[in-house]
Amino acid sequence: MRRKLVVGNWKMHGNIKSNQLLLTDIINGLRDYKNADYVVCVPNPYLFQARELLQHTNIAWGGQNVNQHEQGAFTGAVAPHMLTDLGCTYVLLGHSERRNLFHETNLTAAARFDAAIKANLTPVLCVGETLAEHEAGLTEVIVASQMDAVMATLGDKEFAKAMQLNMVFAYEPVWAIGTGKTASPAHAQAVHEFIRHRIDRRNSDAAAHVRIIYGGSVNSKNAKELFAMPDVDGGLVGGASLNAEEFVAICRLAN
Ligand code: 13P
Repeated sequence: MRRKLVVGNWKMHGNIKSNQLLLTDIINGLRDYKNADYVVCVPNPYLFQARELLQHTNIAWGGQNVNQHEQGAFTGAVAPHMLTDLGCTYVLLGHSERRNLFHETNLTAAARFDAAIKANLTPVLCVGETLAEHEAGLTEVIVASQMDAVMATLGDKEFAKAMQLNMVFAYEPVWAIGTGKTASPAHAQAVHEFIRHRIDRRNSDAAAHVRIIYGGSVNSKNAKELFAMPDVDGGLVGGASLNAEEFVAICRLAN
């Protein structure tokens, strides 16, 4: 039985005061819910605040991206060890907003994945097709290419390390992100099953254990049905993770 995982992606939202209120309510709301894993990925300037409030709780925190370099003249970038310095255990990689708005590619996702696991961060690799690709029936082709770009760069040693860190895949159809148009549970299940089969071609033990979470307009109303699908191991939650009541309700459904 895979333990469910809910990751909140705050994107570029929040301030010191609102974060304090949101995190306090989430901590209180999830105190007695120990049967799933919960993570919040906050903007980098607030990781210190997340650590102050979340250490000694059942909620982990992580970055929304990481650079592949260890250090150097990379203005504006954040290295993997900087995230671990601040107690992060997770990092999102290859989010569609990074790909579409900041021109990141499969290549950079692969390099960042490698750098993240070297730093002992659990990578959450985001994959998913755009609306045009969806309508053209290309979902599996796109998801496979995004997965393969990363998996092919991992040697056996790196793959074993990624497994040991409990790497996560997040299926986020771009047309469902921030649109209120959630993928149907059947569609999510079909793509998650496809992702698991593709991992199985490499390693069946990894395929059985890897958590594949769904993202795209997840809320407290649709989460139950999505989480009930056999290959949906939780959610990657954007907008609804900024509302404590909503996020706590989604996390409780995973519990
Ligand atoms: P929404 O939940 O706001 O659709 O965002 C999903 C997402 O991109 C999470 O990474």
